[in-house]
Amino acid sequence: MISGKEKLIVVSNRVPYNVKKVKGEIRYKKSVGGLVTALDPILCRRGGQWIGWNGYSGYSRELSGELVVGKDCDQEGYSLKLIGLSAKEIKNYYHGFANRSLWPLFHGFISQSYFNKDYFWFYRKINNRFANRILEEINGDELIWIHDYQLCMTPASLRERSKKKLKIIFFLHIPFPNFEAFRVLPWDREILKGLLGNDLVGFQTSRDAYNFLECCKNILDLDVDFKNMKIHYKGRKIEARGFPISIDFDRFNTLAKSRETVKYRKNIKDLGGDAKVVISVERLDYTKGIKERLKAVGRFFTKYPEYLKKVVFLQISVPSRTKIKEYIELKREIDELVGSINGKFSDGLWSPIQYLFKALPQQQLAALYKYSDICLVTSLRDGMNLIGKEYASCNVSQDGVLILSELTGASYELGSNSLMVNPYDTDEVADALKKALNMHRATRKKMMQGLRKTIRENNIYVWADNFLDYYSKPS
Ligand code: F6P
Repeated sequence: MISGKEKLIVVSNRVPYNVKKVKGEIRYKKSVGGLVTALDPILCRRGGQWIGWNGYSGYSRELSGELVVGKDCDQEGYSLKLIGLSAKEIKNYYHGFANRSLWPLFHGFISQSYFNKDYFWFYRKINNRFANRILEEINGDELIWIHDYQLCMTPASLRERSKKKLKIIFFLHIPFPNFEAFRVLPWDREILKGLLGNDLVGFQTSRDAYNFLECCKNILDLDVDFKNMKIHYKGRKIEARGFPISIDFDRFNTLAKSRETVKYRKNIKDLGGDAKVVISVERLDYTKGIKERLKAVGRFFTKYPEYLKKVVFLQISVPSRTKIKEYIELKREIDELVGSINGKFSDGLWSPIQYLFKALPQQQLAALYKYSDICLVTSLRDGMNLIGKEYASCNVSQDGVLILSELTGASYELGSNSLMVNPYDTDEVADALKKALNMHRATRKKMMQGLRKTIRENNIYVWADNFLDYYSKPS
């Protein structure tokens, strides 16, 4: 059940389907990433509207009609309202300011952040365009829920453009940096003021919320009530809170239990007969620590050669932001690393790393999670990380082990029932792998049951209810 009476308008950079008209026919391609995984089930169940970019350059007027998705027997479904971007706008707003300035900065990769006036000019322009598009869809009674770092300036822009008292809430899916890191951004004040257009700003952890408030205090010189996590600004009260996001536990659990998974069991067997399988899945992104993980895999076989031919690493990297220089270089480096590790350790038909560079359908992914003995998450920084949650939800036999980076938001909730590692410490990761492979079944079961209980109880619907109820409660 998801609470709330008002019509819900979700706004994010991308809608959950990339939508294009080809030869007179509308084609949909599911978008990837945590935001879609988390929010699509909420809107399917509750209904409403999702406003965002169609995922391609250009826009045909024909796509502005009613596009309804996610509707089936027990689901409301919801409508998509699309925004078009030109190639130049994508280059500067999306590839540029969002993903070469804010993304690295917010993840603590300051030396990889590029600051460029054109990038920012386009960012502001497109954030204003989103505000205008929202205004076309509302009469003022709706609850407008804006998402993520691509749209930090849309809330204030929307409020300035409307004469009504709008209800605007926001959720940041990535970390919010501390004051010393955030102040590096030449447009730090503009970003903060943009976010202060909201009534409630949600973050993955309370630490992120605290960082945001501290920036408001130190950069904008605002009076912040840290005890109640509130700011008074332009006659309004704005709250900042941590709301750790989750997934649809039942959906993943059901997918993993379905008969369909059986046909994929063979895929796993083909990887290495009776070898134990370690799975890693993510968008190909430098924040995910894929290079560092591959180095740890090399270290593992060097340090513990008794596992040669007994373990296989299944690395699934989903193509993402493939036009950005840093991602192109990373892809090349990963290809080389996989090649060199496989070259060094392969024996007969056995190779230590099986590498897929593609997105897999959820049913197949659920099966791969189900039949994998260990899930290895080594993000160098991650707002939350939903992969560990997906893995545990699919581990219906309850005997898998999650190795989890302590630098993820997820580690606050899942850390006590996983093996926590510092992803930069290759020896620690190699040792954790050995420990997981040798862990007694009863211990594995106890930890996995703990993980599954946490995720079942704090599933995505509970998260949405908490967020929306928090906003609606009288203060
Ligand atoms: O979770 C962070 C995020 O940037 C989301 O906002 C986005 O949906 C996802 O990752 C995928 O990123 P992109 O839309 O750039 O492919």
